[in-house]
Amino acid sequence: MAREDRGNARDARRGEMSLFVRTIVKKRDGGDLSEGEIDAFVTGVTDGTITDEQAAAFLMAVCCRGMTAAESAALTFAMMRSGETWDLSRHGFVADKHSTGGVGDKATLVLAPLLAAVGVKAGMMSGRGLGHTGGTLDKLEAIPGFRTAVPKAEFDRLLDTVGCALIGQTDSIAPADRRLYALRDVTGTVESIPLITASILSKKLATGASAVAFDVKTGNGAFMADPKDAERLGKALVETTRATGRKASGYLTAMDRPLGEAVGNANEVEESIRMLGGEGPADLRENTLLLGADLVLAAGLETSAKDARRRLNAALSDGRALEVFRKLIAAQGGDPGVCDEPKRLPQAVSRRDVPAPASGVVTRIATREVGLLAIELGCGRAKKDDVVDPASGFRVKKKPGDAVEKGEPLLVVELGPSAKPNATFYDRLAGCFTIAPAGARVESLPFVVGTL
Ligand code: URA
Repeated sequence: MAREDRGNARDARRGEMSLFVRTIVKKRDGGDLSEGEIDAFVTGVTDGTITDEQAAAFLMAVCCRGMTAAESAALTFAMMRSGETWDLSRHGFVADKHSTGGVGDKATLVLAPLLAAVGVKAGMMSGRGLGHTGGTLDKLEAIPGFRTAVPKAEFDRLLDTVGCALIGQTDSIAPADRRLYALRDVTGTVESIPLITASILSKKLATGASAVAFDVKTGNGAFMADPKDAERLGKALVETTRATGRKASGYLTAMDRPLGEAVGNANEVEESIRMLGGEGPADLRENTLLLGADLVLAAGLETSAKDARRRLNAALSDGRALEVFRKLIAAQGGDPGVCDEPKRLPQAVSRRDVPAPASGVVTRIATREVGLLAIELGCGRAKKDDVVDPASGFRVKKKPGDAVEKGEPLLVVELGPSAKPNATFYDRLAGCFTIAPAGARVESLPFVVGTL
C-alpha cells in the first residue's frame, strides 16, 4: 500500500474508532442508540475493527442501561446479518423451537421427529451444554456415529427426505454472537435481557424457520429463575421474532425440578426414544405437546390445540414418531438400532442409589446444583475443552410433592467409564433434596407457569 493510502486507511480507522467510542459513551450515559450506530458497532465486532476492550465496555453499558425494544431488535438483526442467513422458502413451512435450557431438557429430541411424523417439517440448530444446563448436541452425539456438523445443503436434503434435521451451530451463522458471547462470559454481562435476546435470536432467525415456539424455563434450575425476568425475556423473544414476519408463541415452564427422569446424555436419548414410542415421563410429554401443538397450529394443519394434541399423541402411540427418529439417525450417520436396542447407546459401568436420609415429602430440589453435579460427573464441560462422558448421568426418582421413605432412592447415579465422583459427591447430591414431614408445604411451580 502506498504511503498516502496507508495514511488514509489509518484516518478512516481513527474515524471509526471514535464513532465506536461515541456509541459506547452514549449508551453508558443512558442514551438510545440508532439503528445505524448499532449496525456499525456489530460490523466492527465482526470484522475485528473493534477491540475486545471496546466490545466489553459496550456490553457492560448495555447490561447496566438496558435497551429499548427498537434497539434490541436492531441489535438482533445486525448480529443475524453478521453471517449467513438461510433461505428455507422452498420447503414451505418449517418449524423450530427454542428452549432457554435446563436440567434434563431433551424436548428437542422428541419434538423434531414428532413434528415430521405429523407432516410439519422441523429444522433445528442446537448448541452444547452451557453452565449447569445440558446441551442437545452433546445428547445427540451420544448416539454412536451421529453427525451434528451438517452444512446447509445437507440440512436441505434432510428436510426433503426425513422431514426434520437436528444439527449443530455452524461457524458461518451469526459470527458476531460468537465473539460477543465469549466476551460476555468473562465480563459478567451474560444476564442482560437485550443481550440474551439478540444472542438467541441472531442464530435462530438466521436459519430461516417460518415459526418458532419458545420454551422459557423458570425456577431454581433455569437461567431466569425469577418468573418475572423469564416473562420479560420470553416476551422479548416472541415480539422480536414476530417483528421479522415469522410466527412465534411460547410458554414459561417449570425448571424447579429436572425435566423427566434422565439427566445426562445417553440416558436422555434413551428416555426420548421411550417418549417417541409413546411411553416416557408425563412432564416430558406435556412439554412436547405444548410446543408441538403451537407449531401444528402455526403450520395450519389443525385449527384447535385439542386437535393438534390429538394428532401428535396419535403419532407417539402408533410408532410413526419413533420411525422418523430411526430414519433421522440413519440419515445423520448414526446407529438407528439404538431405537430398538437402547443398550447400543453408551452404558454406565455401575450405578449407585442416593437414599433419602428421612421419611416425609420432598418439598424442593436444588435443580441448578443437580445440574452442576451432573457436569462434575462428566455429563458436561466445566472448561471448554473438557471431554463429555456420554454414559454418565442421573435418574431422578423423586420430585417435589412425592412422598418418600427413609432409605428409598431419591436419585440413581449412573457412572460411565470415566466418572470419578469425589468423597463428598453423594452427600452433596442428597443435599439437593429438601425433605420435610408429611403435610409440609411443597415449593413447586405448576408445569405451565405462563403463556407468552
Ligand atoms: N443461549 C444463547 O445462545 N445466548 C444466550 O445469551 C443465552 C442462552
